[in-house]
Amino acid sequence: MNPEISEREKSHSSFAELAAEECIVLLKNENILPLPLFAPIALLGSGADKTVKGGIGSGDVNNRQNITIYEGMAESGIQITSRDWLDNYEHRYQEARLIWKEKILEEAKHVDNPFDAYASNPFIMPEGRPVSEKDIEGASAAVYVISRISGEGKDRRLEKGDYYLSEREEEDILFLNSRQVPIILLINAGGAVELTDILEKTQWIKGIFNISQLGQEGGRAVARILLGEAVPSGKLTTTWAKKYADMPFAENFSYLNGNLELEEYKEGIYIGYRYFDSFGVKPLFPFGFGLSYTDFEIQFCGIETDQDKIGVNVSVENTGSRFSGSEVVQIYAVLPHGRLEKEHHRLVGYAKTNVLKPGEKQQVRILIEGKALASFFEEDHAWIVEAGNYELWIGNSSDNLKLEALVKVNGDTVLEKTRKLETAAELTGVLERSYIVNSEETQKKAGNHDIPSVQFEDLCLTGVLGKTQKEKQECCEKTLESLADELPVEEMIPLLCGNTGGISSNLGAAGIKVPGSAGETSEALYEKYGVPVLIMADGPAGVRLQRSYEVDRKTDSVYGIGVLGSLENGFLITQKPHENADMYYQYCTAFPVGTALAQSWNQELLREFGVAVAEEMEEFGVNLWLAPGMNIHRNPLCGRNFEYYSEDPLLAGSLAAAVSKGVQSKAGCGVTIKHFACNNQEDNRMGVDVHLSERTLREIYCRGFEIAVKESKPAAIMSSYNLVNGIHAANSKDLCTTIVRNEWGFDGVIMSDWNTTVPEDGSIPWKCAAAGNDIIMPGNENDHRNILEAYRSGKLSEEEIRMCARRILQLIEKL
Ligand code: BGC
Repeated sequence: MNPEISEREKSHSSFAELAAEECIVLLKNENILPLPLFAPIALLGSGADKTVKGGIGSGDVNNRQNITIYEGMAESGIQITSRDWLDNYEHRYQEARLIWKEKILEEAKHVDNPFDAYASNPFIMPEGRPVSEKDIEGASAAVYVISRISGEGKDRRLEKGDYYLSEREEEDILFLNSRQVPIILLINAGGAVELTDILEKTQWIKGIFNISQLGQEGGRAVARILLGEAVPSGKLTTTWAKKYADMPFAENFSYLNGNLELEEYKEGIYIGYRYFDSFGVKPLFPFGFGLSYTDFEIQFCGIETDQDKIGVNVSVENTGSRFSGSEVVQIYAVLPHGRLEKEHHRLVGYAKTNVLKPGEKQQVRILIEGKALASFFEEDHAWIVEAGNYELWIGNSSDNLKLEALVKVNGDTVLEKTRKLETAAELTGVLERSYIVNSEETQKKAGNHDIPSVQFEDLCLTGVLGKTQKEKQECCEKTLESLADELPVEEMIPLLCGNTGGISSNLGAAGIKVPGSAGETSEALYEKYGVPVLIMADGPAGVRLQRSYEVDRKTDSVYGIGVLGSLENGFLITQKPHENADMYYQYCTAFPVGTALAQSWNQELLREFGVAVAEEMEEFGVNLWLAPGMNIHRNPLCGRNFEYYSEDPLLAGSLAAAVSKGVQSKAGCGVTIKHFACNNQEDNRMGVDVHLSERTLREIYCRGFEIAVKESKPAAIMSSYNLVNGIHAANSKDLCTTIVRNEWGFDGVIMSDWNTTVPEDGSIPWKCAAAGNDIIMPGNENDHRNILEAYRSGKLSEEEIRMCARRILQLIEKL
């Protein structure tokens, strides 16, 4: 009941700031950064004092307070020349917010679920007034913040003001350029904003940061980086194209081709740098790229096999003289061409150093998994490492690498046999690699036999498989689970849906016991058998709960605030406090969004972030966190990219594993990695049918999930809304059972995304259970009825129901 800032809030705010500093990527620095403290700055652009902390929808966090860039800079003592511009923007912003609110409230009257009215109308940052001479008077540089908001339910637009600069932004930058004011651009968006044209038209853009969306402490982190009190160490996790059309089939994405029903992944495995580097297309900023204020030398020190992995030793030295900083060492394998056409190279390992003082050196050991070199052969139903030399290129970006070592493979090595999937897509006109990009260095070194090497056959690959069986047995000794065998089957069916009693289920706010939580498991077996419920709350940028709630003193019940009330910190619907009610507070921390966190390339940081999340889960009684989100950045316009990590599955998977390990280090806290699989567009997210080859599915879209499952044993997986090759993910036995459980050994729970069974052509409730999607969330009466009928009519077997129930009971026991 105490609204004061708690010790936990303070320490998590500090951590959020530290994390934010590591997430910032410096993309350009022509002798301008860091800024001297005494230099007056013209601070301009939509996000200057309205910095966007994160995206909207379920990925939002209802935190106490955000520090904007203006506040961060002012706090640091930087003199700002553009106060008048900022004041004027404040009015425009407040006005635009009210108009937006009215629009949503009006639209909400005409839709079944008010959340849809909200999701389909993300707030658009208004234009500022044109920058004037007065705003820049005495300024030694201008910091211009370009902010964008996006969220679930709607993709970003290929328009001015979203993917492109708005007219006003362009005019302002051209004005600053004409006055020869050095410009530092800050991109405060969930993904790329196209900058190629403006860079061609100007000479005075001297610095660019991709700050992404940094959470509640972002403004402070930015100020410290601008001043050199902290040194940038982030790297892009997704390629920034020069032009949108440079990406393959980009014009077909989501709404762009007018077809929201079908999305054909004709580019196959050629996503992001896999495409750019295989087809010789130069991006604006490459994958893995990011500058520092200091310099590093990366030296290869040796390679050896290390049980089932390849160990690469590298030393990194800070060769600068002024700043301490850290560097990310990246290893890419150039793959040989054999039977299967392959991408030019792929990330196979990485590590971030500690903060190194000038002159300081650190030894880094990077372990590469055997499977990182494998490709999926559809005809053989197998992951195979084809014979040949795998070149290991080491550096600090996908574009700055040196050939250092080889992994030699004598003969084709089958790593894993997979099961045959039931569904497949007929895709025509798919992208095929037309030529091999062979750098001079590759050619020169190809014949060089002195390159250090290891023999792939020396890896001890046996024993990697088969672990899961033993772990399964351990789980089986637990007690609650035995109910799954003992109870009459019909009594167990309610478990297969979320809690249907109480507040009617609405997207994102169906929790009953913890206000603002997203949902919970069924309480049907509580009274009779003592089976407790699991409370679920969203992420991935923190824990999404209501910031405060009221409890009626007489009835001891919580006053509901509806779906719209739970969004935007209550901005859309404000309620007067009730009489005779007590107010309770749940201030959670808004950490940097998924993409920003990933830009740190720091697994330890992400693990610590997970621990912080778990502390808040414990404090507010949440058992299952509906995060991390780890879909692939297939296209920069996906509305939810900000929640996700990368275009690269190894990076996404390893970071999701790190967060999951952090969260699950606290007994009673579990993660739900989501959205499995191919949730790569938001327009018509519940109905779009993704068609892709099995190889693409496995190598790109499942691979990150596979890494996370195997490395961190997440408690749960959330299936996605979309269809994959004709079948809703929640109804797909291929995804939920064959791949995840039978092949990867996942023994947790799979839940559906919210209301996937509600649309007429949505997932079919009983088919969820049959597929191995254990729980339908948030659950409704129809789901329950449908499963019961399917059981009674013999479509759904008793064993299928018991299997889902068993896994749910196991998880409840565990948490
Ligand atoms: C989102 C999920 C989220 C769920 C619960 C859905 O709209 O797609 O990511 O976990 O709502 O809020």
